[in-house]
Amino acid sequence: MSATTTGRPFAEPAPSALLLLLGQGTDLLSERGVECAGALPAASDPDLVDRARAARAALGDRLFVLGHHYQRDEVIEFADVTGDSFKLAREAAARPDAEFILFCGVHFMAESADILTSAAQQVILPDLAAGCSMADMAAINQVEDAWDTLTDLGIAAQTVPVTYMNSTAAIKAFTGRHGGTVCTSSNAAVALRWAFDRVGGLDGTGKVLFMPDQHLGRNTAVRELGLSLADCVVFDPRKPNGGLAPGELEAARMILWRGHCSVHGRFSEANVRDIRAAVPGVTVLVHPECTHEVTEAADLVGSTEFIVKALDAAPAGSAWALGTELNLVRRLARAHPDKAVHYLDSTVCFCSTMNRIDLPHLVWAMESLVAGRTVNRVVVDADDAHWARVALDQMLALPGL
Ligand code: 13P
Ligand code: SF4
Repeated sequence: MSATTTGRPFAEPAPSALLLLLGQGTDLLSERGVECAGALPAASDPDLVDRARAARAALGDRLFVLGHHYQRDEVIEFADVTGDSFKLAREAAARPDAEFILFCGVHFMAESADILTSAAQQVILPDLAAGCSMADMAAINQVEDAWDTLTDLGIAAQTVPVTYMNSTAAIKAFTGRHGGTVCTSSNAAVALRWAFDRVGGLDGTGKVLFMPDQHLGRNTAVRELGLSLADCVVFDPRKPNGGLAPGELEAARMILWRGHCSVHGRFSEANVRDIRAAVPGVTVLVHPECTHEVTEAADLVGSTEFIVKALDAAPAGSAWALGTELNLVRRLARAHPDKAVHYLDSTVCFCSTMNRIDLPHLVWAMESLVAGRTVNRVVVDADDAHWARVALDQMLALPGL
């Protein structure tokens, strides 16, 4: 393996204080709570891997395990399929025979899997505290208030809502009810083109309300659709009228929700400059949740699936600096010992909520199923599920996907 942080050897990170909070009991700091019914195995249990294998074998085809690219290695080892949120949503929808879908990812992904699978199938999130801080930046009541603002200004009728997969089922349902679509980082450009076509095309005056990641919205609109930075405004849900003058909202083409990813938001232009100075010839590849300045400074921008494919296709001897979650970067570094894989930031950058899914929770969830008890089932209420499905189906039907 040849993996480094910016210009120095790649060190295994020490467990952070947050990771030490993981385990049995209730974490008062978490947004959803981590109460585990029954005994959560100790992380130090030397039999954990054997227990996971035994439970997995006992469940056989009744169980299908999905693993997002940002999951820990110990979890990915048990995934039937790995991928980004778009691929995993498709995989969940393509397994009508699996009785249990164990989603090793975060809460909004499990919700989407529940919406896309039949009522008889049970979707399980091994730790309900595995949320997404970006998804939590948009609450349904805030989105409804924002829509009321657009309605009062007379611009809602020429606005199509587009929500990133990283949003609650309630916001996906809002999007479905208002004729919009879901998108992921691998299809955001197609989704935005589709949305603008519904309100007069890119050359018209129609708008998109893009939630909740301002960076994905801005990067896609400016880098891929040719809109300008001046066409984009940021709507702050904590301020009256989003903190914008009526004229600013009327003139905007992209109304960007004020949300961001706390992981990808850490990368800076200075990181890009430093790695270029330390590693001549390096290709800098970043996720579109990074800031616009970082995407402009990078060589390539793409979703996690794009990043995986780019590394697979890269020639031996090439050097890469990746601006995305650390579990994925470390795994890619190990999978490509013939390439130099660097981490773009010089400090540890795990997604702490993705990391909540660990081997003890996985074993606990699977052994509970073997014992005939479903734990941590994620169920979306019927009305939201219906309208969220409308928006998800719209995404799955987008041209060219
Ligand atoms: P992908 O859509 O690339 O899977 O990204 C999901 C995510 O949470 C990235 O931070
Ligand atoms: Fe959410 Fe960012 Fe973690 Fe992705 S990496 S799940 S957007 S907090």
